[in-house]
Amino acid sequence: MIGQALNRVDGQLKVSGRAPYAYEQWDGGQPLYGFIVGATIGKGRITRIDTEAAERAPGVRMVMTHHNAPAQGAPDLSVPAEYWRAYPALADPDVHHYGEPVALVVATTFEQARAAARLVEVAYAEEPGRFDFAAHEDEAYAPEAVNAGLPTDTAVGDFDAAFETAAVRIDQRYTTPYVFSQPMEPQACLAVPQGEHLTVYASCQIVDSAHSSLAATLQLDGERIHVVTPYIGGGFGSKLRVHQETTLAALAARTLGLPVKVAQTRQQIFELVGLRPTSDQRVRLGAGRDGRLVALAHEVTMFTSPRIEYAEQSAATTRPLYAAPNRLTRHRLVPLDLPRGEDVRAPGEAPGMLAVESAMDELAHVLGMDPVELRIRNEPEVDPERGVPFSDRRTVDCLREGARRFGWEQRPTTPGSRRDGRWLVGYGMSAAIRGHFQLPMRARVRLEADGTAVVQSDMTDIGTGTYTILSQVAADGLGLPVDRVRVDLGSSEFPTSSGSGGSWGAGGAGTAVHRACQALREMLLEAARGDTRSPLHGLNTAEAVFADGSVRVGSASEELRELVARHHPEGVEAEGETQSMADDPNYKEYSINTYGAHFAEVGVDADTAEIRLRRMLGVFTAGRVLNAKTARSQLIGGMIWGLSAALDEDAVVDTRSGAFVNRDLAHYLVPVHADVPDVDAVIIESFDDKANVLGAKGLGELGICGAGASVANAVFNATGIRVRDFPITLDKLL
Ligand code: MOS
Repeated sequence: MIGQALNRVDGQLKVSGRAPYAYEQWDGGQPLYGFIVGATIGKGRITRIDTEAAERAPGVRMVMTHHNAPAQGAPDLSVPAEYWRAYPALADPDVHHYGEPVALVVATTFEQARAAARLVEVAYAEEPGRFDFAAHEDEAYAPEAVNAGLPTDTAVGDFDAAFETAAVRIDQRYTTPYVFSQPMEPQACLAVPQGEHLTVYASCQIVDSAHSSLAATLQLDGERIHVVTPYIGGGFGSKLRVHQETTLAALAARTLGLPVKVAQTRQQIFELVGLRPTSDQRVRLGAGRDGRLVALAHEVTMFTSPRIEYAEQSAATTRPLYAAPNRLTRHRLVPLDLPRGEDVRAPGEAPGMLAVESAMDELAHVLGMDPVELRIRNEPEVDPERGVPFSDRRTVDCLREGARRFGWEQRPTTPGSRRDGRWLVGYGMSAAIRGHFQLPMRARVRLEADGTAVVQSDMTDIGTGTYTILSQVAADGLGLPVDRVRVDLGSSEFPTSSGSGGSWGAGGAGTAVHRACQALREMLLEAARGDTRSPLHGLNTAEAVFADGSVRVGSASEELRELVARHHPEGVEAEGETQSMADDPNYKEYSINTYGAHFAEVGVDADTAEIRLRRMLGVFTAGRVLNAKTARSQLIGGMIWGLSAALDEDAVVDTRSGAFVNRDLAHYLVPVHADVPDVDAVIIESFDDKANVLGAKGLGELGICGAGASVANAVFNATGIRVRDFPITLDKLL
């Protein structure tokens, strides 16, 4: 059952509109609608706020501002994970960034709330803000650690000396823009008060972070808050924590004693949700004429909010990527008065790989070497910075298999040399790598007396296929047909997980479910051995097989439902858990990553420089695959994000006001179907026994790592023009 390309078990509910998302939830009674009013300055304070006209507008029930917002908890800096901390709204008159909420208008209908929001009059004392990254880059400072607790800087050997004397040197700067997650379903919340209790239907990737953040913000006992999020329309990092819509819905609901819904508009997502920091990356590669790296440095300067520090781990994947005896990585932050930085689709790894894998292509070009061969030549024996072995590294397999399938030997070896009508044609490639994370997860599996099973965890399915893979893992673990397993997710009443993020969901939640099934199997076998009515009575059950709804030992077998009905007429349950990587010795003793290789072919119009992807292939390995279909879909999605990073996405800030000017999906470009003619992802199956008992690693974010560089390198191969300022728009080629 594990690995099969099973269709999504929730697919029919979703495509038929019967899967309720946060804003569509109905909890009895007509909810009120809140609309967020955002600041129209980038920094300063509110000097006067006049809500009278808004309050008199049709249908308006309340206008909440910093004058009448309830007291809230402040972020507790001793809580290690920022997303778990309080996130107060309308707490004071200060404005820290453009669009920050200054009021919430609550009305009977959404339209009434939105109309009245325009009547709120705000006067500000504006202060000069820092909005221009380039102008403040010299103010960069070193954070204590970068995202995921990884070290800010690393150094091995003597980089400067080795680089100075290297036969061939690349020293280039690559810049990447601000990027937003932009899931189809916006950040949304329905808060329903019941006396001192509150049910919160929120769109979130981690139920526990939403729950903790709300409890801390509302200063309410966590027992009184129930977070529910059964279906989520994408997250991409932007729902790892709940944002101001959830805080505001909860505050309004508790103040009015009535259900309140608040959703962000598409434009507000560009103001109220965290963004990927813009970055300026310097990559230096020193190599011998044989292509072997002797020195490798990746130094990243990026934006942070001064209030909530966030540092993407942009150079982190460079650390285990290639062998080089002398190396350094460095992260620096430039504080600007913009919305905070947050995790966005392979945080750090995606923009970091864009830079490093472009630089590797530059090195291959200078050396006149096949870029695939250059990478194979620099394949490390052990993790070059940590000195520990890799658990299941298959980069070379991915490179060779990809090159073969793609027809890499057909590539134009001289840039700008191939024409197809008006198109200049180029091939590009890149390696892919991403660290594998393991976080604590718990799940409960319950076997009913009718022989069906229920899996429960506060784990989420953000569109990735969690319902489906956990059904498969439980069906496999109990030997049940998959249609006899039900999976319940996304409720704070279920055992706590670390949710969906960082690609840790599948491996972590899968392991917890597997372990719960294992515990159940042991309970059932013990019962059968001691039961004179069981055909398995007195047998050695060490070799027992659970399959087709039965337990078999040799030729003896008993149906699971009979065994359960006899011993546990009320059903029987067990919990399983996955430990954090900090407590798992394997993660200290091994470098555990996922790997791949990307290949892209582009056409560039010889006259207009219009860039068109012609085809793209990724070959990946991430241990055991839990579902071939959902895995491939995720990888393809990731590859398209890479295409997007190379050619499209660019959130442009107005450096006078701190507002993002292209704040909708008409002007913030992402690839559409017509931009993605032919993309395929192939998985080399493996089993990483160091990662977890299932052998499975996360791959949600692997697909984007390096994907953009393969497209950028193809553009260079097509034109002979190297663009290092992403995205590569046609004006930069002309
Ligand atoms: Mo992902 S950006 O860690 O949700």
